[in-house]
Amino acid sequence: MTNDWGLKKEYLHSTRQNLWNDDYFEFLVKRVWKIDKPVKIIDFGCGYGYLAQMLMTLIPDGSSYKGIDISETLIDEANEIFKDCNKEISFEVEDMNTYEPESEYDLVICQAVLRHLSKPLDILKKMISAAKKGGLVVCIEPSRPMENAGIYIESDKYNPFENDGFLRKKWMDEIEAGGRDYQIGMKIPVYMEQLGLSNVGVRINDFVDYVGIEGTSEIDSFLNNHSVDMKYKNSKAFVAARCHVISFGTK
Ligand SMILES: C[S@@+](CC[C@H](N)C(=O)[O-])C[C@H]1O[C@@H](n2cnc3c(N)ncnc32)[C@H](O)[C@@H]1O
Repeated sequence: MTNDWGLKKEYLHSTRQNLWNDDYFEFLVKRVWKIDKPVKIIDFGCGYGYLAQMLMTLIPDGSSYKGIDISETLIDEANEIFKDCNKEISFEVEDMNTYEPESEYDLVICQAVLRHLSKPLDILKKMISAAKKGGLVVCIEPSRPMENAGIYIESDKYNPFENDGFLRKKWMDEIEAGGRDYQIGMKIPVYMEQLGLSNVGVRINDFVDYVGIEGTSEIDSFLNNHSVDMKYKNSKAFVAARCHVISFGTK
């Protein structure tokens, strides 16, 4: 599978539709991270600006946001989406591996990025260096075994364990080849503390993707997005808990 997310933007859009409950994201911003005055934000691996769309409606006026991503296609799309936005928002093509941020941000955030990198710890260090003293670093990343365990399909044939052996091999092969880490979400709070962040906290995204009788047009994208076999296409209902791990700490 390609690492160029510009070529996978349809998948990116499709999965982002079913990722968060708006009320829970608002709860995180206002009650957990307590963002109640203008903040300066940087989003590592921002894609087409999905997090920006969620954040900009919730953060106080006077805040600013900058998104960086290696994909020119996605940055172009983000700029197009926000072209009429009157807030202080910018998107830049940057490779995180070479990007050298100033320590000036109140909120340094990434979503579904560290999972795809061969050296996630290096990028987490860089994210921490981008935060000013007292700033908040937030990582939203998957634990694939938890996600896989969160799938249920209403069908006589459904065996929740049938994919386990295949996925275990795939994940172990990936990590042994020095590539993607399938349980990065679970490791980040540990890394955060090791790298000197304090007040480290962890949450789980509460979104559960449910496709029942009212959502038959969504079945194909559900099966595709959750890597479920198409043989279940005619089943009666589909459930997937996203289980993204949300780790955060202050510098
Ligand atoms: C799964 S996508 C997530 C995008 C976005 N955070 C979201 O949640 O919609 C991973 C993103 O990381 C970006 N990325 C991967 N390697 C990168 C690098 N070395 N520098 C900057 N961005 C990178 C990809 O281009 C892609 O947009």
